[in-house]
Amino acid sequence: MENKKRIGVLVSGGGTNLQALIDAQMGGELKSGEICVVVASKAGAYALERAEKAGIEGICVERKSFSDKASFEAALLEELTKRRIDILILAGFMLVLSDRFIRHFPDRIINVHPALIPSFCGDGFYGLHVHERALSYGVKVTGATVHFVNEVTDGGAIILQKAVEIPEGISAEDLQQKVMREAEHILLPKAAELLCAGRVRRDGRRVVIQ
Ligand code: GAR
Repeated sequence: MENKKRIGVLVSGGGTNLQALIDAQMGGELKSGEICVVVASKAGAYALERAEKAGIEGICVERKSFSDKASFEAALLEELTKRRIDILILAGFMLVLSDRFIRHFPDRIINVHPALIPSFCGDGFYGLHVHERALSYGVKVTGATVHFVNEVTDGGAIILQKAVEIPEGISAEDLQQKVMREAEHILLPKAAELLCAGRVRRDGRRVVIQ
């Protein structure tokens, strides 16, 4: 298909969400967009190996090679612009992007978060911590959210959510795997396809899927 959206995926670690996107692309579920580059914020991120195995360009723009956030983001933007990226997907990307950066991609950056926003989200809620906090609070249901990225950490309009039940006595590590398997890896490719196909319309905080 012509006019596929050019997708850039930002990662920081293992990249199982990236893998779900790659699998969706291979399987034809993600057909209105194409992953053109994977950018890791950390050298040695396993996600880069996943990209390589799939024949997708992977690069590293390492946060710690830059003295400040502005110069890191300028370098990141340059790499994305060079490749004419239309849509950015944050798939386990552990840095918060500035308002200034986000403005280059209005309603074109999405993130997957491992909880049902507005629970267990915001500054300090990332990765395994989210599940530890959910367990210590004692909630019986958690899940995942795919949302637009705006200037507030995990604060952008919600696109898709899926609930996951918390079994008695489960560890944070096992809960993380369960949420990935039952929610994140299903929602993220789905949201990516909807966005690339132009089927996601935001009206203030409310998102309408057409
Ligand atoms: C995922 O659970 C993702 O939702 C979470 O980190 C994990 C990354 O795993 N992201 C955040 O907490 C961002 N706030 P992955 O590298 O295997 O996709």
